[in-house]
Amino acid sequence: MCGIIGRIGRGEAIEPLVTGLENLEYRGYDSAGVAVRNGAGIEIVKRSGTVDTVAEAIDGADLGGSLGIGHTRWSTHGPPTDENAHPHTCATSDVAVVHNGVIENHAALRARLRDAGHEFTSETDTEVVPHLVHEHLDRGLEPEAAFRRAVDELEGSYAIAAICDGATAIYAARQGSPLVVGYAGDGYFLASDVPAFLEYTDTVTYLEDGDVAVLRPDGVRITDRTGTPARRDRQTVDWNAGEAGKGDFDHYMLKEITEQPTSLAQAIEGRYDADTGRIALEDLDSFADVERVVLVACGTSYHAAKYGTVALRRSGVDATAILANECSLAAPPIDEETLVIAVTQSGETADTLAAVDWAKRHGARTLALTNVVGSSAARETDQQLFIRAGPEIGVAATKTFSSQAVLLSLLAHRIAVDSTGTSGLAHEELCRELERLPDHVSSIVDESTAASIATRYHGRDAYFFIGRGYGYPVAKEGALKFKEITYEHAEGFASGELKHGPLALVTPETPVYAIFTGEEDGVTRTNAAEATTRGAPVVAICPPGHDAIELADAHLAIPDVHPILSGLLATIQLQLVSYHAASLLDREIDKPRNLAKSVTVE
Ligand code: M6R
Repeated sequence: MCGIIGRIGRGEAIEPLVTGLENLEYRGYDSAGVAVRNGAGIEIVKRSGTVDTVAEAIDGADLGGSLGIGHTRWSTHGPPTDENAHPHTCATSDVAVVHNGVIENHAALRARLRDAGHEFTSETDTEVVPHLVHEHLDRGLEPEAAFRRAVDELEGSYAIAAICDGATAIYAARQGSPLVVGYAGDGYFLASDVPAFLEYTDTVTYLEDGDVAVLRPDGVRITDRTGTPARRDRQTVDWNAGEAGKGDFDHYMLKEITEQPTSLAQAIEGRYDADTGRIALEDLDSFADVERVVLVACGTSYHAAKYGTVALRRSGVDATAILANECSLAAPPIDEETLVIAVTQSGETADTLAAVDWAKRHGARTLALTNVVGSSAARETDQQLFIRAGPEIGVAATKTFSSQAVLLSLLAHRIAVDSTGTSGLAHEELCRELERLPDHVSSIVDESTAASIATRYHGRDAYFFIGRGYGYPVAKEGALKFKEITYEHAEGFASGELKHGPLALVTPETPVYAIFTGEEDGVTRTNAAEATTRGAPVVAICPPGHDAIELADAHLAIPDVHPILSGLLATIQLQLVSYHAASLLDREIDKPRNLAKSVTVE
């Protein structure tokens, strides 16, 4: 949700800035812009539209200078226009600012600045910041002190980068929105996320809330708000630029779907023993004191959390999944004996972080299941389990869902054994089958008929997805993926619920994707038959030879495996259906309209 990049060092800044914006575009694509400082002042190019639009404008602008900042926007305050694009400046253009987050007191600050004679040119909350910095510069403060004073006046969430004419530095502050510093051989980077500068360096420092960083050509200084030096570790990230690139694929989404044999192998490696059935999840403390588990998450991660809830309950553990954004008004009771698991790919989702905060205030033990090692969720929880999926750039989450689901299944068993002494999961069978999981996924990816099925049911009124048990969250996830990238109407239901209302919508124009996980398949088959009776074409997602194929109009094959893994494998077929359906409609698959990868506002 908005991407920030900054670069200072030897040589020209513009190329790494544009590369950074291209790599960050998954965080927002309403508008983009850069500001570069050179001997002639601060030069800005910004436009509504994609990074490509801005890159074209930059090509003709000859933006020289060794330090600069850039931004790709997901609009919150003000529509996606040229005026609202970042960087924003003060009236004299001697300060330029990019920002991710929401400045909650912007209206009051704007009113005060207006009264003092400042004129505004955009509708954004961000624009108050360069005016505040300018005001302090006018009062005689040095740029760093002026920046600090301005930041002190802000309320809300922000990752901010600023440059000032006459100062060879980038000033940055973090409060509630991610910001990471990168150390390259010829200079320093600042960005919302590591893939922004992975071509240049994998050595990073994640800033923490309250940090102020000053990047100069000869080094980076990180302090707290008062200017006291803050000790922050440098880390080497184990992602590489190739992983973060699109390779030969048309879309990141397809690349990431096909990466699942590897991402799943990485997720489970060393975490189970196929011979003994032992599940070893690193150094996670014992869960012996855990009475109940509450999973908090949003979107796709919420569906993974629901998947985990099924596994936990089947293991004999009291478990509930709640949408993170519902926690403040409809939270289940929690206490010191509750384990709250935050399921979040990015580890930066504001709703999920707020739920972690809620859990901590109630004394609950917290665990983050996340993909990003230095993320806020990883830092703010008691323990972490990393899904090791590698960078996921497509806005539609794919490989991270399957990794979350498989790890929650392992975690469910471990929590059950620690807290109850036993587990209802047939984990020995599960462990044996985990050995073959990457091969199963490869065969689905290689042999899927999803493209022809997407073509066959192209242009229908609506698309329904049904399943039970592990198949229910998969149905919800299948529908989310479909609507997210095709913009077509899609809904996911528990298959038994169809007859309690949604069946009224079922016509010969509504394909129904029915997921069979090997548990109570007869009932799911009956539910699917309720749809075929109304003329709806049913696509059965089940193993070859399954009796659901007889009633179905079409079939997507999954191997006959443990039900926990069937659901996960069915998801991969549904990801491919959504991808091909969106492709037929010529949608912006990696950057669906109105959405962004990392949702850092509540
Ligand atoms: O980074 P998170 O997993 O916390 O993100 C949560 C949702 O915003 C995310 O899963 C979203 O629903 C996906 N774009 C769906 O594909």
